[in-house]
Amino acid sequence: MTKQLFISCLIASGLIFTSNIVSAKGNITAGKEKSATCAACHGVGGKSEIPFNPTLAGQYADYIVRALKDYKSGDRQNPIMSGMAAALSDEDMEDLAAYFEAQEGLTVLPKP
Ligand code: HEC
Repeated sequence: MTKQLFISCLIASGLIFTSNIVSAKGNITAGKEKSATCAACHGVGGKSEIPFNPTLAGQYADYIVRALKDYKSGDRQNPIMSGMAAALSDEDMEDLAAYFEAQEGLTVLPKP
């Protein structure tokens, strides 16, 4: 019985550990790989060094996904980002958003 409990705890802690890497929706590691093209404008890790291009680091994932979907659908219009978002699947958007959200942003506020 005690041994079973111990094994259950091991499995549970393994799940908790994994959930740190795979956030609620997107996969941070996959997002990092997919963000190489974005870095040209939004900076490495989404920290933009060119004021014209918004900083994505620390932005809420939901906001990033919404923005990308709106660019793809045409609800939000921008010639550069429409082209970028057109090439992204829903999964790509979730992964990228998870990655950028996990980066330290301009202001450090506790996430809800
Ligand atoms: C060629 C430059 C360029 C590249 C490459 C680029 N972006 Fe952008 N991005 C911009 C510009 C410029 C804007 C501001 C557009 C606007 O005013 O709507 C923007 C806006 C955004 C926004 C909205 C930000 C906000 O605060 O509302 C998101 C999210 C975003 N980009 C994500 C990405 C992702 C993810 C990639 C890579 C797949 C990417 N961008 C690649 C130039 C770029």
